[in-house]
Amino acid sequence: MTNQPIPDLTAFDEAALDKAFAQLEQEARQAASGLNDEAAVEAFRLEWLGRKQGRLNEVSGRWLKAAPVEAKKALGVRFNSLKAVVEALLDAALGSGPSDASLKAEALDITLPGTQRLVGAEHPITRTLNEIVSVFAALGYSVGVGPEVETDFYNFESMNFPPGHPARDTQDTLVVANQERRSQRDRLLLRTHTSPVQMRTMEQQPPPVRIVIPGKVHRNDAADATHSPIFHQVEGLCVDTNITFSDLKGTLDHAMKALFGSAVKTRFFPSFFPFTEPSADVQISCIYCGGKGCRKCKQSGWIELLGCGMVDPAVFAFAAEKQPAYDPKEISGFAFGMGVERIAMMKYGISEIGSFYSGDMRFLGQFV
Ligand code: DAH
Repeated sequence: MTNQPIPDLTAFDEAALDKAFAQLEQEARQAASGLNDEAAVEAFRLEWLGRKQGRLNEVSGRWLKAAPVEAKKALGVRFNSLKAVVEALLDAALGSGPSDASLKAEALDITLPGTQRLVGAEHPITRTLNEIVSVFAALGYSVGVGPEVETDFYNFESMNFPPGHPARDTQDTLVVANQERRSQRDRLLLRTHTSPVQMRTMEQQPPPVRIVIPGKVHRNDAADATHSPIFHQVEGLCVDTNITFSDLKGTLDHAMKALFGSAVKTRFFPSFFPFTEPSADVQISCIYCGGKGCRKCKQSGWIELLGCGMVDPAVFAFAAEKQPAYDPKEISGFAFGMGVERIAMMKYGISEIGSFYSGDMRFLGQFV
């Protein structure tokens, strides 16, 4: 853009100077009033204040040089105030903030609906697990945990599954590869149950023990409606002097009533686990039909829910290697173990175990 030429000044009296500078000031004000974007502001700056071709530079060069000596001061004063006006106009234009276009781009339409943030909630497995734990916490049980990658010793041998014993076949195990150089008891596997934490607990503390151990377990099982290769258990262990099978029955009967309602009945069926003797399966009266017999309980009126028994002396013998106070002649105890998924499925009426792991919000949203 070429600047408007500065006219020659022929008269240098006060009135002529006032008029000439007033004219320039008016032009500057007019030019500054229409500056609506950054490029226009910069063009204004160059036109008026540019070092070489700016209009003020031209004024000072041509007018001041042409002025007779006695008029130079009056001209200089007016020049300085014009320059101050132009600079103030430029400052105002620079400081006037973003352009209309950028304001529009940033504009916030407060009538639009906001972004909805979903409220998180406990997963039904976590919720059930916590509920089971709190039933026992209320009875004075502490809570423990153990490793998911476990040794053969803790998962099997110390739980009275000797190497090569067929009882091991009841839990199809996922083992860590390439451990041939380790002794059998040190080989690593994914724990098939939470029972090994019984031994870890007893090795750490002498009796009495009352503890529940929630956790994740793994088995090489095909997934179907009620099985998953990864699932959760809550283990329990109570050891003290004079712990009897009646204590076991009373404790689990109370726990089942606390979990499923006070109308629920329990019964204990003979069973087998290597680490308990005697062992039992606990059945509860069918929560769907109240015990009359229905499809869910296969017309029996009972549903099998967990395993339990009196701690086998062979298990205490392993514990006594580190804590001699686990002498089966002095103490006794009971243990139990239950599947969290199975209990959650019964409590919430869920028929597919896979629903827990699918991450489907239509399923999970029901538990908020
Ligand atoms: N560990 C057993 C399992 O995974 C469950 C179990 C049964 C745990 C009886 C116990 C028990 O502590 O006494 O099938």
